[in-house]
Amino acid sequence: MTHNNSFLTAVHLNYTFEDGPLHVLADISLRIERGAFVVIVGPSGVGKSTLLRLLAGLLRPSTGQITLDNQPASAARDPIGLVFQRDNLMPWRTVTENVRLPLELQGKNGRTTQQRVQEMIELVGLAGFEGSYPAQLSGGMAQRVALARALVHEPELLLLDEPFGALDALTRERMGQELLRIWQAMPVTVFMVTHSIAEAVLLADEVLVMGGDPGNGRPATITHHIPIHLSRPRQFAMQSTAEFQEYAAQIRAAIQQ
Ligand SMILES: Nc1ncnc2c1ncn2[C@@H]1O[C@H](COP(=O)(O)OP(=O)(O)O)[C@@H](O)[C@H]1O
Ligand SMILES: [Mg+2]
Repeated sequence: MTHNNSFLTAVHLNYTFEDGPLHVLADISLRIERGAFVVIVGPSGVGKSTLLRLLAGLLRPSTGQITLDNQPASAARDPIGLVFQRDNLMPWRTVTENVRLPLELQGKNGRTTQQRVQEMIELVGLAGFEGSYPAQLSGGMAQRVALARALVHEPELLLLDEPFGALDALTRERMGQELLRIWQAMPVTVFMVTHSIAEAVLLADEVLVMGGDPGNGRPATITHHIPIHLSRPRQFAMQSTAEFQEYAAQIRAAIQQ
């Protein structure tokens, strides 16, 4: 096996849903550095969630390899945090109990576990809501709980599938900033799917564009790798700069190709 500095690599991935069969992903290769924030965009139905599920180890590639830390990826071993568009919180559990769940599943429930859970609740800005139930939270707050739950077991990789897709525009902007703050506070590599070009430019070190055959869109591959050289910390006001808008235009053009 070749060793390099990449944290997450995918090499010549293909994926076919056998009931069809539907060849969704073709020859996907990518390399993500440790600690990077990578965002993938592309038309609806192109295969973004399928790629994320492959990286999460929830699906097995039809052909090709995924390595994490130079080892073959395996869902059983690798600490990965996952957040989807729907928060998937357990309605009968409080905020604290939802965030604690991954640690409970690891058999942890001591004092340090409680401290860790409390730290995560504070990190995502939910201090004071520890005893609230999901039905008592706004959509943005529920996604904060989902983020805390995804990060509480200190995963090295955080996979986010349109995590703010169901939120209103203002909450979504706020959550993007919060996500950047959390990412900077933790040693975690982020791979995120979004359909918002502005969100992609604002958050990412690199934007990957996924596209398919111009005819039926299938199978899809990564057509563009676009590094974003905006300085950090990123501020919302950067959106009005010419540099930001050039990136956005470049990505929009890449998606439409
Ligand atoms: N479990 C499945 N079985 C069969 N086809 C699926 C399954 N999940 C997704 N697909 C199909 O694979 C394609 C890619 O889906 P998906 O990865 O969800 O796209 P995206 O996240 O980019 O919108 C779509 O055509 C979708 O209908
Ligand atoms: Mg999807």
